[in-house]
Amino acid sequence: MLIRNAPDLTENEVTHHGLYLRRREFLGATAGLGLTGLAGATSAASLTYAKGFSTTEKATSKEDVTSYNNFYEFGVDKGDPAQNAGRLKTRPWTVRIDGECEAPRTVDIDSLIKGAKLEERIYRMRCVEGWSMVIPWVGFPLKDLIASVKPTSKAKYVAFETLVRPSEMSGQAWNTLDWPYREGLRIDEATHPLTLMAVGLYGDALPNQNGAPLRLVVPWKYGFKGGKSIVRITLTDKQPATAWNRLAPREYGFYSNVNPAVDHPRWSQATERRIGEFRRRETLPFNGYGEYVADLYRGMDLKKNF
Ligand code: MTE
Repeated sequence: MLIRNAPDLTENEVTHHGLYLRRREFLGATAGLGLTGLAGATSAASLTYAKGFSTTEKATSKEDVTSYNNFYEFGVDKGDPAQNAGRLKTRPWTVRIDGECEAPRTVDIDSLIKGAKLEERIYRMRCVEGWSMVIPWVGFPLKDLIASVKPTSKAKYVAFETLVRPSEMSGQAWNTLDWPYREGLRIDEATHPLTLMAVGLYGDALPNQNGAPLRLVVPWKYGFKGGKSIVRITLTDKQPATAWNRLAPREYGFYSNVNPAVDHPRWSQATERRIGEFRRRETLPFNGYGEYVADLYRGMDLKKNF
């Protein structure tokens, strides 16, 4: 597929900015990039920024991105995750990648980060509830991880499973959702260059409330597609069940592409409130990423496949 820059995307194709990663979790990763000077947990290293995919829109403040969250494993109010997620232990952590592939594997999160081509991607995020943010993620394309397990021709979908650990996830005492939180993508969506596995935020390690240590980011879909604290990624031949769709199938579809023309049964999706702004703004089809992704849905009825 031809990828061109949208007007709001940066032109600095290979500019090296100083992206500073201070946390222990990133030491292995930056070593993998061949960067030097990493003597301890407080060392800093610079990374290469993403090529062209980042928006130049003003990023939402770090304060808002890390304190206004949806992560029902830690409670249903926006402030609950920041308050309660500190108890989650994100090391050791392994991710199982299996299913319809020739080389299934279980990988330690630090080896995964170390071997990944990390980039910063500044993406819009539109929540199905009608608010949005602009978030500077650090991560790697999911397609790289999928390629590493050698998918078979039966790999038509990708299923994501996130952590179940009620002892550290206080919200899992309630059946708000049928734990684990599950999400899914079609294989062409999962291997699209925009689809990111995030391991960092604002140049630092991913805070627990944002989905540490590994979280899916699909910027043209509603935010709930981005499962947090992922432990398993399975290639399948059938469309996987997803948490919100199972709970309320009339309200939350499998595709959940951002679409101002298809209202949620209980509210309009035409506009959104950008966190930090006063006036509502218009919601864009595919959250403004249409020129990259609209082709994936050619010929599909997006009202039916909401
Ligand atoms: N992932 C898990 N495991 N549990 C959740 O409750 N909430 C989703 C998504 N991923 C959720 C999740 C929803 S509804 C949104 S809008 C985004 O995470 C919010 O991401 P943020 O809190 O980092 O902004």
